Amino acid sequence: MRRPLIAGNWKLNLGPGAAAALAVFLRDALAGRDDADVVVFPTALSIPAVAAVLDGSGLGVGVQEIAAVASGAMTGANSAVMAREAGCTWMLAGHSERRQYFAETDAGVGAKAKAGLAAGLYPIVCIGETLEERRAGRVDEVTQRQLAAALAPLSPAELALVTIAYEPVWAIGTGETATPEQAQEVHAALRGWLHAHYPAIADTVRVLYGGSVKPSNAASLLGQPDIDGALVGGASLMVGDFVGIIDGAR
Ligand code: 13P
Repeated sequence: MRRPLIAGNWKLNLGPGAAAALAVFLRDALAGRDDADVVVFPTALSIPAVAAVLDGSGLGVGVQEIAAVASGAMTGANSAVMAREAGCTWMLAGHSERRQYFAETDAGVGAKAKAGLAAGLYPIVCIGETLEERRAGRVDEVTQRQLAAALAPLSPAELALVTIAYEPVWAIGTGETATPEQAQEVHAALRGWLHAHYPAIADTVRVLYGGSVKPSNAASLLGQPDIDGALVGGASLMVGDFVGIIDGAR
């Protein structure tokens, strides 16, 4: 049985004050509950403030983006080692917005996941097809290519620490969600691919769904056999909605 993981990607929202305030509400709303792993991803500048609030709460903090190197002449980048020091235990790699706006490559995603693991972060590797790719019948080809590249540099011990997030690009921030059946179909194909290529982790690795997840669709998505959690954008900025999604994982 894979334990549900519900992650909130706050993207480029909430400075230190507002992010800490949301973290307080979330911490208090979830106190005493243990039905899922819960992690939030504030913007990098808000990580220390959120980590201070969530320290000891059982809720995790992650960094949305890191460089593949720990330090050096990389103006504007974040370091996995420094994120760890600032209180993170999780990281995202390969979010479609990074691929789209920051030219992140399949191979780069693998290098970043490797760097994060070396620093003690659990990576959530994001993959997903565009609408054009879906219409062309290329969903499995694209998602499996992205996944293969991200996992290739990792050792067996590192592979066991990875989470995958399937986020169809056409469902992100659009209000358009994959139906539970559409999502399950892709998740099952990914699970099958893992069985073929990485049998040691195929039954234990968590595969999250992301893309317009909200309280009203969370239970039906999370009820699918190969959907092990959610990576939530917009709805994670509202405590009631985010808790409602966590409720859907019960
Ligand atoms: P939305 O939930 O806003 O569609 O965003 C999904 C996402 O990109 C999470 O990483």
